[in-house]
Amino acid sequence: MKAIIGGTGTGLFYQNLERRSIITGFGEVEAFVLGDVVFIPRHRAEHTVPPHKINYKAEITAIKELGITSAIGIYAVGSITGKIKPGRWGLLSQFVDLSGRGITMFDNKAVHTDMTHPFSLELNEKIIASAKETGTIYGPACSDAVYVQTNGPRLETAAEVEVFSRLGFDVVGMTCASEAVLAREMDIEFAAAAYSINLAAGVQGTEETQFLDDASCSAVTAEMAKVFINLAGKS
Ligand code: HPA
Repeated sequence: MKAIIGGTGTGLFYQNLERRSIITGFGEVEAFVLGDVVFIPRHRAEHTVPPHKINYKAEITAIKELGITSAIGIYAVGSITGKIKPGRWGLLSQFVDLSGRGITMFDNKAVHTDMTHPFSLELNEKIIASAKETGTIYGPACSDAVYVQTNGPRLETAAEVEVFSRLGFDVVGMTCASEAVLAREMDIEFAAAAYSINLAAGVQGTEETQFLDDASCSAVTAEMAKVFINLAGKS
């Protein structure tokens, strides 16, 4: 079994599937199962949980307790550089966590998990192969995007994004680093795919953040669903 953790706009991964409830020591997790794939909507199906309130530990514990050793996270992001443009998706190679959440599975133990390469290159290769196999229009646009995590739920200021841009960050979001850290700490192979739904604050002189319309979001997430379900069904 493989796990896919989805976020904003990934409802079509699990629409019409029966909702399950997984109880962990950290709380309850909502999940949907299709064959050999378990989907976890990190904001819950009704999109009621904001990024800073997500029960990340319960999510990753649920995956671990199901005996799953490999997971993919899907993230809506804002574009800072042109590496993943609005309406496109790509794979992440690194993150910088500026959220200040300090999340860890090891609150009461001195464990220092290696995080040099937070995402699995092997899994990224498999995603690229699955994209070739299923035929894609939108992506993956790259396999080396750098993600910066903010705490949210507010969006960034133009000055914050300008700093991010100077530091070489490609995309900004509010959830990926928290999940990647816990997955690595729990020894779960993890890859992250990001799809852009907006230009980040102030990029290209935007006065206010404009999000993609639902149809454009669905086009790209439908493609990702095909690629990831194909991959997850393989082993
Ligand atoms: N900033 C932070 N998180 C996001 C954004 C953004 O512009 N777009 C989607 N998630």
